[in-house]
Amino acid sequence: MDAFERMKQRYEAGDVPWDDPLPPPEVMDMVAKLPAGRALDLGCGYGRSAIYLARHGWQVDAVDFIPAAIAEARRRAKVAGVAGRIRFHVASVAELGFLEPFYDLAIDVGCLHALTDEDRVGYRNGLVRLLPAGSWYLLFARLRSPETAVSQTDETNSPRGITRDTVLELFGQEFTLVKATEGITHVPDGPSWASGWFWWQR
Ligand SMILES: C[S@@+](CC[C@H](N)C(=O)[O-])C[C@H]1O[C@@H](n2cnc3c(N)ncnc32)[C@H](O)[C@@H]1O
Repeated sequence: MDAFERMKQRYEAGDVPWDDPLPPPEVMDMVAKLPAGRALDLGCGYGRSAIYLARHGWQVDAVDFIPAAIAEARRRAKVAGVAGRIRFHVASVAELGFLEPFYDLAIDVGCLHALTDEDRVGYRNGLVRLLPAGSWYLLFARLRSPETAVSQTDETNSPRGITRDTVLELFGQEFTLVKATEGITHVPDGPSWASGWFWWQR
């Protein structure tokens, strides 16, 4: 089963442990520190980061390849009264050619780590085109060791993960790593895995 089909089935089954009204504190801190501008939410799911950004005055483009996730995100944005500030797109984050530069901030909470090697390159090239000098890219990803980063998923249905070195290689040429933290993510009623936050500046 490919990543799209697996994710589609998760949404259909209600297996969406990231469904929370608020984004992670790292996202809220970033929003508190930056003036409102244009933001991109990559793999937006039900839109918690996009909606939070819009509530704080940002204009947001939010992308996810699961139509049911985008439909629900649109509904939630309407309920929150911010539908006019968010454009939701059913699309792959590996093919962002339909978006117009420039953005002040791109956020990815848990999407990059699910991509194939080829899709990561398309994603990176999209970000390089869309983010101007001085803009920010905040990334949260499952971190794997090189030995275990190859399988698509595992028996716990967790994302395939990405190695720290791959993250640094992918973005290190075009972005400056301002800060990185690593820890353990505990999925409610699920597995625990190593993860990292990366604050990149273009
Ligand atoms: C772990 S969820 C996190 C959702 C959201 N960022 C949040 O924090 O609530 C990852 C999301 O990335 C989306 N995704 C994974 N691969 C994608 C791709 N190639 N293109 C677009 N979306 C993708 C999934 O459909 C899913 O909604």
